[in-house]
Amino acid sequence: MGVDKKILVIPGDGIGQEVTTWGRKVLETIATNYKHNFTFEEGIMGHVAIEATGNPLPDETLDKARKSDAILFGAIGHAKYDNDPTLKVRPEQGLLKIRKELGLYANLRPIKLFDELLEASSIKPEILRGADILFFRELTGDVYFGEKKRTEDRNTASDLMIYHKYEVERIARKAFEAARTRRKKLCSVDKANVLEASRLWREVVQALEKEYTDVEVEHMFIDNAAMQLVKDPKRFDVVVTGNLFGDILTDEASQIAGSMGMLASASVGDSVGFYEPIHGSAHDIAGKGIANPLASILSAALMLDISFGLKNESLRVIKAVEATLKQGFRTMDIANKHTENHLVMGTDAMGAKVLENLS
Ligand code: IPM
Ligand code: MG
Repeated sequence: MGVDKKILVIPGDGIGQEVTTWGRKVLETIATNYKHNFTFEEGIMGHVAIEATGNPLPDETLDKARKSDAILFGAIGHAKYDNDPTLKVRPEQGLLKIRKELGLYANLRPIKLFDELLEASSIKPEILRGADILFFRELTGDVYFGEKKRTEDRNTASDLMIYHKYEVERIARKAFEAARTRRKKLCSVDKANVLEASRLWREVVQALEKEYTDVEVEHMFIDNAAMQLVKDPKRFDVVVTGNLFGDILTDEASQIAGSMGMLASASVGDSVGFYEPIHGSAHDIAGKGIANPLASILSAALMLDISFGLKNESLRVIKAVEATLKQGFRTMDIANKHTENHLVMGTDAMGAKVLENLS
């Protein structure tokens, strides 16, 4: 028996528009092949929403999100805002608001290298081979949501780094549970030698260690973690960390997967699941048709697995991506600089190859 699911698609800004089409097409193909009934709606968010309504997250989009079973999101941001920090209404506010409103406190970012991409990374293959890390980035707290201040003379600014015990506990639990299903290793990353918020973080994780005695726990400072990640990525299994550290570490970790264009993520929490590539809107290549659609496609695979419990279908998508890479097809970001036997193609051609492999 097939399942009935309502999916909201929010392409967002920049290359989000180009790549999300392919995440959606993959979901449509899976629905057809496995006789599921997926219905799709579209919503706007980010710069495109500001242009259309003045609001980076219109109520209409939020309403649709609440009524859906899962959300496939593209990217957010526009060069205009990056270069003008004085603008008050900003695309990113839409993304932060939807995370908060939907209670999406746990951001899962799996870092797994397809063998075919060993040479695409800037890190040596022998360091990379076998690396497999699952990040749990806290997503609704930290400096992202703490009070922001600017003095009247505009010369002083601050962002409050704040965590409550319950916020640390719920994300840490998710990470512990995941570690149990993997290699039973958890690394908690903080800056407890300097920050009070990190000392609370560490205390809470340490208290949980007593409940999860089967999981081997390591506490690491963020500066050291950033170094270890490129020195010896294989030492990590599950990593749990706060919002800001997680944002930075996972961009770094994307190099372990060959390219930012490969990394998918799932944000979950109280209700609906939210799926998005970790790459941004990439204005420098937006509209050129050269962005890598695989992160969006792999985000769709995460949705099938995590929100819908469709493990086989999810695996099918991952296999189709793998087959496409095996056939030598590459987008520019993952083209192997050392050999010529790769066919470098654009977003649509690459997406179409994955669909072919799916059928
Ligand atoms: C991410 C992005 C966002 C973040 C930006 C676009 C607000 O970098 O999802 O990693 O910082 O969370
Ligand atoms: Mg980021």
